[in-house]
Amino acid sequence: MNVTYQNIKGTFDILPDAQDGSDAPIPGSPAWQYVESVIRDVMARYNMLEIRTPILEPTPLIARGIGQLTDIVAKEMFAFERGDTQYVLRPEVTAPVMRAYLQHRLDQRGGVQKLFYIGPCFRAESPQKGRYRQFHQFGCEVIGSPDPRADAETIALMMDVYAAFGITDLRLRLNTLGDEQSRPRYREALQAYLAPHADRLSETSRQRLRTNPLRILDTKDERERALLAGAPRLIDFVDDESRAFYEEVKALLDLLDIPYEEDPFLVRGLDYYTHTAFEVESDNLGAQRALGGGGRYDLLSREIGSKQAVPAVGFAAGIERLLLELTARGLPLPGIPAPDAFLVALGDEATRWVFATARTLRRAGLRVALDLKGRSMKAQMREANRQRARYTVIVGKDELAARQAQVKHMESGEQVAVAFDALAGFLLEHRAAVAA
Ligand code: HAM
Repeated sequence: MNVTYQNIKGTFDILPDAQDGSDAPIPGSPAWQYVESVIRDVMARYNMLEIRTPILEPTPLIARGIGQLTDIVAKEMFAFERGDTQYVLRPEVTAPVMRAYLQHRLDQRGGVQKLFYIGPCFRAESPQKGRYRQFHQFGCEVIGSPDPRADAETIALMMDVYAAFGITDLRLRLNTLGDEQSRPRYREALQAYLAPHADRLSETSRQRLRTNPLRILDTKDERERALLAGAPRLIDFVDDESRAFYEEVKALLDLLDIPYEEDPFLVRGLDYYTHTAFEVESDNLGAQRALGGGGRYDLLSREIGSKQAVPAVGFAAGIERLLLELTARGLPLPGIPAPDAFLVALGDEATRWVFATARTLRRAGLRVALDLKGRSMKAQMREANRQRARYTVIVGKDELAARQAQVKHMESGEQVAVAFDALAGFLLEHRAAVAA
């Protein structure tokens, strides 16, 4: 077939079947549904409620929320204007969830709001394995609690999502970014330390040295890492209260037996964090090692216009990277489901009977397939085979006269006659037997 248009670079179609993809395999929709159902299950166990916010948000919300100098806002936004309104395809969901919280006065519902989401996000990054321009995040936001238990619970939830897939050996990196005052002090100290060595920094880092020096801590460049080994550490600029908070988060993680590595250089790519910051990593993902990450963001609400600071903590993780991780570990992902029955008809009258019976069986709860192309009986049998149907139900003139169908178990080849009236019962019973 002639192909005129293709999907945009960095995006992909999720087909029923797995496909190769340009950088990495893209599992089929049944695998996505499975992963999402496991995520929903873990979210439910933590008593999280789902929130769905629009894909389009006002650009200033994102720019202010995430920070003008971050890569996401400075370089990676899909933003456009229509009339007087500036729109952006959301690059993440934390700022939108906080917007919704403030807009709908969710604080007045009492207690802490525990919200989760699963959905697409957009960042104009250069695509590679594990990095896309449209990708999917799952995550949660715990809003209204200043308690370190909210931080520890968020981390526990994130780790339990991976555990639910049988992944229990990921690296969890943890750091504290201190409060509002600590970061500017540290920023200055880091600038002062790095400035005399600017010639040893990459072009990007030299730029960051002026604009956003903390981001240099993230560098993967060996020479820069060596230079950073002697740099001042954020923890030394953190006040006693923040330090005590951090100690409590660690003690709670210990209580839950969640291992972590402290990483004084973990800063994350979004500006809204204070106190706790964390990331979960895998060695299976190549350059894009971060499966997920998050932290506390007590200042975000004020940044986006609230008079009050609303204490909050959350995480988000990429579904593509989770799927890559599952694939790398050889963990099974479901493929296209097989029909319980494929109805095969021989002759016009049988074709009509099959067409009506398919609906009866479907209403009884069965997954039923049939030919919609007027193919020969042989071709219908081939199609039933291709679809791996558990049973074929074969009906011709004789079967119509006797009011019973030939029902063939495709794997064993065993065939029995089943009365029309008993067909749904037979198929349901045998499906249950297989499932059990
Ligand atoms: P983030 O670290 O920017 O944090 O993104 C979270 C996760 O989304 C990453 O660890 C990664 O798995 C996935 N991800 C990000 N960009 C891409 C991409 N271009 N392609 C594929 N996957 C990607 C946040 O977004 C924060 N909102 C997390 C948070 C929630 N903090 C507090 N609450």
